[in-house]
Amino acid sequence: MKEQISVRTQIPGPKAAKILNTLQKKNGGWSTVYPFVHSETGEGSGCYFQDIDSNTFLDFGSQISSNPLGYNHPALLETAKDYLKRTPLKFAGQDFTVKEHLDMIEELLSIAPHSMHANAAFLINSGAEAVENAIKCAMRSRPATKLGISMTGAFHGRTLGALSCTNSKLVQKKGYLSIPMRRLSFSDNAGEELEKLLSREVAPAEVGFVIVEAIQGEGGYNIASQKMMRDLRKITKQQNIPFIADEVQSGMGRTGTWWAFEHFGIAPDFFTSAKALQVGAVVANKNWFPNESGAISSTWGGGHVLDLAMGITTIKTIKKHKLLQKNAEHGAYLRQALAELAQDSAGKFKTSLIQNIRGKGLMNAFDLPTKKMREDIVLQLLKQGIVVLGCGKTGIRLLPPYIVTKKEIDIFLEQLESALKICNKKGPVHTGPICSYGMCADMHT
Ligand SMILES: Cc1ncc(COP(=O)(O)O)c(C=O)c1O
Repeated sequence: MKEQISVRTQIPGPKAAKILNTLQKKNGGWSTVYPFVHSETGEGSGCYFQDIDSNTFLDFGSQISSNPLGYNHPALLETAKDYLKRTPLKFAGQDFTVKEHLDMIEELLSIAPHSMHANAAFLINSGAEAVENAIKCAMRSRPATKLGISMTGAFHGRTLGALSCTNSKLVQKKGYLSIPMRRLSFSDNAGEELEKLLSREVAPAEVGFVIVEAIQGEGGYNIASQKMMRDLRKITKQQNIPFIADEVQSGMGRTGTWWAFEHFGIAPDFFTSAKALQVGAVVANKNWFPNESGAISSTWGGGHVLDLAMGITTIKTIKKHKLLQKNAEHGAYLRQALAELAQDSAGKFKTSLIQNIRGKGLMNAFDLPTKKMREDIVLQLLKQGIVVLGCGKTGIRLLPPYIVTKKEIDIFLEQLESALKICNKKGPVHTGPICSYGMCADMHT
């Protein structure tokens, strides 16, 4: 497959439209959906993928951080080939052990910072389940627990425990019961607010956990301040309150360190991982996990044996190709080029259309002046063959696979510049079949 953008049909193309239209009727969990369907033969290479209608897109969204090595990375293909020789591939891995379960835990521990004293991990399937189990482990060690604490704007997943910690959009929460929670503002004031809470409302022993994303994902790629993270960690340590870093979106090297909390010189008691890891995981010192058998478990904990193998290969490949350094370098290049484009656009369009550029490594975002303009740009870029994702109220997140090159960053920037020109003229961006799908329907609300 040629690594080159090529949009040959309207989006979605006829084959994709047929599948999406039927799926929309039959899928009980219909949610925001991008108007393409991946090619049946898995066509893709590097940062490019082909859809079922043979359109080729440049992916700057990495399936929301779940595709760190891009499409058809040789190391992953090799692993898949290797496993095809072995049968059966399916094992209910929590109770019926495969060696990969241990290998995955050991790989994860090899990339946990020493200061955490992590010597155990629990494997599960998704990000929400990782959060769910981290908060369960924390609560189990705190019999006086009355409530948990999370941050305003947080997203921690959609199972009921994780959803209780989420503070993102009403649609995700309405009608569902919640475990008791308090929120702290995602700002320099968080430490002071926690101290007030502990002196006025709830005894430290009654707080089950504090959970934080060092860089908020769905909330808008908001980077915590050093003060916020350090204050929260200091107080939770002093008061013996379990501190959980949710690294489901920001972890596994995306920000240029293995885990985003490492940018703040702190070590949590627990961290969660999923997405880029392929399976869900909770990492901590063994003392934090319940010591009664069956207190936490799930049939498919750690997923399919192939999922475990893919996750292990992902970690090894990131190490082997020094992708943490590359992510830091490419992220700095992208932010610098965006800053130049912002300055340029300020000259051309009277006001800068690119605002509030932020990020670490390859977890980056910027804001547009309005929500509508953000939505126009996401859509226009898709029409031009580039996948980016919205975040927060007016943000666009840029999270290409770790194997992105400067050339691909330059291609993205050229396309962004032309999308800005088109959208600034208020042209007919929201038209055609592309607008019939979740992604665009949401944008019109
Ligand atoms: C920070 C964070 N935590 C948890 C989750 C939930 O993960 P999953 O969708 O795999 O359940 C997400 C998903 O976007 C996330 O970004």
